[in-house]
Amino acid sequence: MAVPLLDVNAQNHPLESEFNSAFQRVFRTGHFIMGQEVTAFEQEIASLVKAKHALGISSGTDAILLALMALDIGPGDEVLCPAFTFFATAGCVARAGATPVFVDACPACFNLDLRDARKKITPRTKAIVPVHLFGQSANMNGVQELAKEHGLRVIEDAAQAIGAGYRGRSVGTIGDFGCYSFFPSKNLGGLGDGGLLVTEDDELAKKAISLRNHGMSPKYYHSHIGGNFRLDALQAAFLRVKVPHYAGYTSNRQKNAAFYTERLSTLPGVTVAPASACACINSSPTALPEARITLPQALPGHDHIWNQYTLRVIGAGQRDALRDHLTARQIGCEIYYPLTMDQQACFADLPATSKVGCDVSHQLAGEVLSIPIYPELSGGQKEEVVAAIADFLTTQSAA
Ligand SMILES: Cc1ncc(COP(=O)(O)O)c(C=O)c1O
Repeated sequence: MAVPLLDVNAQNHPLESEFNSAFQRVFRTGHFIMGQEVTAFEQEIASLVKAKHALGISSGTDAILLALMALDIGPGDEVLCPAFTFFATAGCVARAGATPVFVDACPACFNLDLRDARKKITPRTKAIVPVHLFGQSANMNGVQELAKEHGLRVIEDAAQAIGAGYRGRSVGTIGDFGCYSFFPSKNLGGLGDGGLLVTEDDELAKKAISLRNHGMSPKYYHSHIGGNFRLDALQAAFLRVKVPHYAGYTSNRQKNAAFYTERLSTLPGVTVAPASACACINSSPTALPEARITLPQALPGHDHIWNQYTLRVIGAGQRDALRDHLTARQIGCEIYYPLTMDQQACFADLPATSKVGCDVSHQLAGEVLSIPIYPELSGGQKEEVVAAIADFLTTQSAA
């Protein structure tokens, strides 16, 4: 049985008539830019994540860029951001004219290692951008304490984590700004690109609203240089179709993760990354136990929403061997991410101080493999994934 890494049609096709109605509703108004659909969607997300201000944005990337612009971050400023993540975070920092300084990752939960972040603060450090990678919150108490101590702004890249929690609060609502993405593979995936920016700060919200539309207020008067960062009315209407289903999608992802953890952890050579090994929440983390495969885990107080279920496959060549094995059995899997930010060609000219000490990130890039976790996976498909991994462990010798 084939198991794709993601099946957007399995989620979208059952909602076809609702999408058609949403299309008709917007089409008939002839109102395609901003307006009632965008406002209604913003209100729905604000209530979902309990944010004071929510702004529909053209993409998650644009939400990060807009947040940086609203905080006046630019040339001469350094911004701490993860080495092990998707490119958009660091890309936006560089596009804003600031210098990204890459922070190493935690070997257990993949998020920012705050001990490394602390070492990399200089008088030029203006902000920190934690990414809630794969759907699990970074240590936001730690981030906020560090930011307070050094007067840093905090932009949460919650592109992969809308609705994830941190000690009872939604990620994205804790820092100065939070950025979400509705790229189709995200937990709340649209029918195209889309994003959202949240903030609790009235002044920052006002500035971001203006920058979203060319820094224009009133019409044709520009106090700031902004851009076109608007979310389409049609996209907002499509996303609204999915909002009522969101809790169900999340609960299915959590059930799928629990199933994998229960079943895979009984296989020889497989362990779950213990919370004690997390460098984000422990000042002296324990070493990860010896294993051929380490499974991810939700840390206490972190409501993981499992955008990805990411294995660490230990041993030279073993990750690629497992990827090839799964691919041969028509099981989708992906390496998020094969190259760290400090290794990217486009950042070759960054100063060496931006790129030092990312050893854990490099190791992760060689070991991680994400397996299917999407909400519509059937019981049979999940069994197939477990059976294929069990087969790999018994037929392939360890390095
Ligand atoms: C961590 C992270 N940040 C930012 C983005 C950018 O979001 P978008 O694709 O909506 O621009 C993504 C999306 O892939 C992401 O995974």
